[in-house]
Amino acid sequence: MTFRIAQISDTHLSPAHPAFTANFDALTTHLRATRPDLVVNTGDVSAHGELGGEEAERDLRFARDRHAALGLDWLALPGNHDVGNDPAVTERNGADRDRVARWNSVFGADRFLRDVPGWRLIGLDSLITATDMAEEQFGFLADALAGAGPRRVALFLHKPLCEEAMSEAALTYWAVLPEARHRMLSLLERTPPAFVASGHVHQWRDRGVSQGLCQIWAPSVAFHVGDTWQHRVGEKCQGYVEHTLHPDGRHDYRLVEPEGLIRNDIGLMPEVYGPQTPVTD
Ligand SMILES: [Fe+2]
Ligand SMILES: [Fe+2]
Repeated sequence: MTFRIAQISDTHLSPAHPAFTANFDALTTHLRATRPDLVVNTGDVSAHGELGGEEAERDLRFARDRHAALGLDWLALPGNHDVGNDPAVTERNGADRDRVARWNSVFGADRFLRDVPGWRLIGLDSLITATDMAEEQFGFLADALAGAGPRRVALFLHKPLCEEAMSEAALTYWAVLPEARHRMLSLLERTPPAFVASGHVHQWRDRGVSQGLCQIWAPSVAFHVGDTWQHRVGEKCQGYVEHTLHPDGRHDYRLVEPEGLIRNDIGLMPEVYGPQTPVTD
């Protein structure tokens, strides 16, 4: 029997942003009808969870309650809008113990391990890889891979491992930091995952194979970033990725664009995150 995962991402939920809630409501209707075996949200579950204070608590709880109301089995990983961005690429609201503790108090762990027929699903927090919380997670990954046995591994995280090539050296907003990436790759060498599923870029892309690893980028449920403000490296749409895992290790996947999801452009919604900066090159 196959196991179907709906990988949703970047839902950016908040009671302050009804356009994003409307997209989640349309997605909810679709998922209740199609009933995947598991829903995995690959992060930026909330709109302002990284800010701290009442606003963060409000958004995280709102997002958690919306997921619980799906009536389906679900897991969520934190994104930069939930626990703060990697401190190496942000000057304020960086991921720290307080923010991760707030996530823990609402969602539970910031990582997961789930065995399903023929497969081991591993979820990681990609925002803490350069903090003093990283060691424990690398240990978690090493143990999860060592215990996979004959199962195929699928890896889920918010940020893609790289933009184009695992060898790229730049510290960027868009991908796992190079040092953490290489440490993950060395752990993955003996047990390569069948695929690495991520969000964060708000673009759908499945051609990101580097060093033999297939990277699948889920689009955002909530919004895309118009071409004026973000380069197009994949497809800018609103939807999710359905993964079908066969017990013998085969994997199929497809983009799903449910009816009723509105194509929101965050560049035209400055009330959410302020004016976006136009791309220059
Ligand atoms: Fe996002
Ligand atoms: Fe993100």
